[in-house]
Amino acid sequence: MKNSHFISIKNFSKKQIEYILKTAEKMEDIIHSGTDIAKNKILGSLFYEPSTRTQMSFSSAMYRLGGNVIGFSDPKTSSKTKGENLTDTIRCVSNYCDIIVIRHPLEGADMLAAENSPVPIISAGCGTKEHPTQALLDLLTIKKEYKDINGLNIGILGDLKYGRTVKSLTYALSLYDCDLNFISPPSLKMNKEVLNYLNEKNIQYKEFKDVMDVINDLDVLYVTRIQKERFPDPTEYLKLKGSYKIDLSTIKNVKESFIIMHPLPRLDEIAYEVDNTKHAKYFKQPYYGLLVRMALISLILGLIE
Ligand code: CP
Repeated sequence: MKNSHFISIKNFSKKQIEYILKTAEKMEDIIHSGTDIAKNKILGSLFYEPSTRTQMSFSSAMYRLGGNVIGFSDPKTSSKTKGENLTDTIRCVSNYCDIIVIRHPLEGADMLAAENSPVPIISAGCGTKEHPTQALLDLLTIKKEYKDINGLNIGILGDLKYGRTVKSLTYALSLYDCDLNFISPPSLKMNKEVLNYLNEKNIQYKEFKDVMDVINDLDVLYVTRIQKERFPDPTEYLKLKGSYKIDLSTIKNVKESFIIMHPLPRLDEIAYEVDNTKHAKYFKQPYYGLLVRMALISLILGLIE
């Protein structure tokens, strides 16, 4: 992993991903004992799109490792406002840091950054394509709850067209022997690129319009919001708003061990009344995000074996 870019889950083997997750679990001890393994290392944090969890957990991860963070979370304060292109920004910023984390609304921006950077680039989510470190924390959450991802029946609900977490998660789950169920309004179905990827690998999946047709058979339901900001036509968003919702009645007959996950932010797709049930795991995920990001930074910078 040392010096690798981390742009797509598809570029990494199951063995590598499992190794990152195992390293992430060891980070719990490091949080408690403290460390300075990243002393004198600087993380550049370039967020061209809003973020709460990803941006803050990467910063927290670097500080917890004893390193430092520079960057911006509002691109309006950067020289992009003066018209600077991404390539030039990366060429310059890479002089100031040892690793760069970038979130960008445009597909391919993460790849472009990697092509022009002498230091490793980690994607913190790019356009509608992928959010690879979210997939790592999602896998870790499932592992923490079930020990083994193999054999699970997993539902992925919501905006599968514009959502990027669901794509990285699907690529990651395709490495395991689990059942995949995509549940969405017809106009927000999982895109062809991802389905073709599964078909090429002979991985079976099912598609549903209504979560009630499958929820009682699931071990995991991964819920996502409708990505309002990515709709070219706001009236299309308004037509779909509120078209699915998980509440206490939805989960009345689920399996005992059933869990609900969500990358957050949550809008109205999970009722607040679900938060206090034993099934809700979406407020545990951000903690696992800290662990996987600490692990990833440590492995890429070669701070640990
Ligand atoms: N899950 C996630 O990417 O959240 P943020 O947009 O707040 O980073």
